[in-house]
Amino acid sequence: MIEDKVIQEIKDRLDIVEVVGDFVSLKKSGSSYKALSPFTTEKTPSFFVSPSKQIFKCFSTGKGGDAIEFLKEVDSMTYIEAIKYLGEKYGVEINESESNYVVNTEKESLLIVLNKTKEFFKENLNSSDGKSIAISYFDHRNISKEMVEKFELGYSLDKWDSLYNHLIKNQFEDNQIINAGLILENNNKKYDRFRNRIIFPIHNLSGKVIAFGARIIKDEKNQPKYINSPETSLYIKSKVLYGLYQSKNNIRKEDTCYLVEGYTDVISLFQIEINNVVSSSGTSLTNEQIKLISRYTKNITILFDGDKAGIDASLRGMDLILENDMNVKIVSFPEGEDPDSYSKKVGKDKFLEFIKLNETNLINYKINLLNTKYKDDPVKKSEMIFDIVRSISKIPNSIKRSVFLKEASNLLDINEQALISEMNKLLIGKENKFSPTNNLIKEEKKEDNKTITSAINFYERECVRMLVNYGTTDFEVIGLDRKSFIDYFLNEIEDVEFENKNYLEIIEVFKREFKKDKIIDINYFLTDEFAALKDDIIDLSANKYEISKQWRDKFNIHVSEETDSLKKTTYTNILRLKFRLIRKMINDNMQNLNTSDKVNIDEETIKLHNKLKSAEIDIAKKLGNVTSV
Ligand code: CTP
Ligand code: MN
Repeated sequence: MIEDKVIQEIKDRLDIVEVVGDFVSLKKSGSSYKALSPFTTEKTPSFFVSPSKQIFKCFSTGKGGDAIEFLKEVDSMTYIEAIKYLGEKYGVEINESESNYVVNTEKESLLIVLNKTKEFFKENLNSSDGKSIAISYFDHRNISKEMVEKFELGYSLDKWDSLYNHLIKNQFEDNQIINAGLILENNNKKYDRFRNRIIFPIHNLSGKVIAFGARIIKDEKNQPKYINSPETSLYIKSKVLYGLYQSKNNIRKEDTCYLVEGYTDVISLFQIEINNVVSSSGTSLTNEQIKLISRYTKNITILFDGDKAGIDASLRGMDLILENDMNVKIVSFPEGEDPDSYSKKVGKDKFLEFIKLNETNLINYKINLLNTKYKDDPVKKSEMIFDIVRSISKIPNSIKRSVFLKEASNLLDINEQALISEMNKLLIGKENKFSPTNNLIKEEKKEDNKTITSAINFYERECVRMLVNYGTTDFEVIGLDRKSFIDYFLNEIEDVEFENKNYLEIIEVFKREFKKDKIIDINYFLTDEFAALKDDIIDLSANKYEISKQWRDKFNIHVSEETDSLKKTTYTNILRLKFRLIRKMINDNMQNLNTSDKVNIDEETIKLHNKLKSAEIDIAKKLGNVTSV
């Protein structure tokens, strides 16, 4: 155990603002500091650090505690690791013999073997093979000694089991070494995963090695260029960015993060003192990785190859970054060049100048692509316009969206209103396939209002017909005790506004009498008082209403079972009516969307749309099957 005295010394010296500040961008707010929570993907800050109390509190997850608790949460450190980390940071010596170190978690055990391995790979550089193979490779690629040290680069010997033997000699156990992904097994023979390769250790945010990437030395046809550690409980690829440990403080200082593709790109840029750069290591960018960057800055500049794969990867990345409410720019390199090769070719000043001249925002980037690649292909071109609108629609902030739309409208020379209308369709999940023949604002409705209105008329009449014919019937309402039909009916249609005014009046009369505990039937209406309703009453009073085949087919009605399953028929008729009323409201609202000319109004419309949509789904579910409505 570490002595209490030492732990106390560390606690006395540390400042939680500094400790948290290494992981999160803090802003002063009154007597405390606030930030976006590193534990969730929130948009407004709910994470606070109090310097006077030396604690943090995250209101969106409920997590809170002192600096040690923070390190445990944010970087999955164990208590001992957190103490050691802080000891290092604040210059408190922890005597190894005093610490009497007990390994108690799987992660901790992985960390120990991986970091021992890293040391071994580094030491290999001093061997004669290390010098003649690895060091000369670094020289040949112009990788400086400082970079080798900063990134802890190493070399794995050209032997089958040098690492394995080394670890066994140091009392590590087979399963520990295998779990760390360092050893492979074949026919009961164990051998090193990384052999005769340049080693790029991958660090976590506190600088501990959690995995390795290993590059082949001489490119050979049937050997992969890179071999990487497998995923472990420590190393989850989608949550790791190469170089973030080395660059995080610079990213915050510069308030920009350069995103590159490879290990060597990161190192080459660091070598010319561009040290706010991370790599997604050849995999496509994930939400978690963007979230990691967002702890330090909201601004990402993608520096990818100018080839097809590079362009595709950057396009995907851009959309994801936009969705996360971050700002994204992109720089394309000349074909055949990546940031590594280009920086080596032109040097620091020209490289920075190149970035300055070429960095473009999403709109310009896509429009450039559009103009150069798809100039003579109208189909491709219109797809691209649609694609630009789709990217803009991913920006959560409506003000930013409208700024981008305005820009796109200018550059593309397309009516802004048309773009707004197209984007709003996307925002409410109604994706239109855009083609050059259909004009941007052309209406495209799933079910037109005319069909819906005739369905509404039909079901209103059906409902009222049930009422006047079966109003006096007793029946068991689904799931409830015995009730009269009328009680049930009036309850169900309470929130339904009938369009047919005569029907409305008939229902009102039923309601009025029912309040006086009187259940009326059709005969009640056969007086002069209701002369105006006479035609309707007669029309509705036919016991079995003759529904034309056309109606039956149209709305999928089975009349014959009507009296057998009265409650079911009533229930579904009312639901079918409600369903159509909601559909109509959705369509009317859509109309509103298409004609509104301000982006801000649409926020309301979208909210209403979503509400209506969920009501529609609710009813569809109750009806059991959307197709039968
Ligand atoms: N990569 C990988 N496995 C491969 C090839 C690539 O994991 N077989 C990952 C590595 O993280 C690599 C990144 O994808 O850094 C980019 O690949 P590439 O551009 O081919 O490699 P570079 O990093 O540019 O390496 P070099 O400059 O040495 O060719
Ligand atoms: Mn490269």
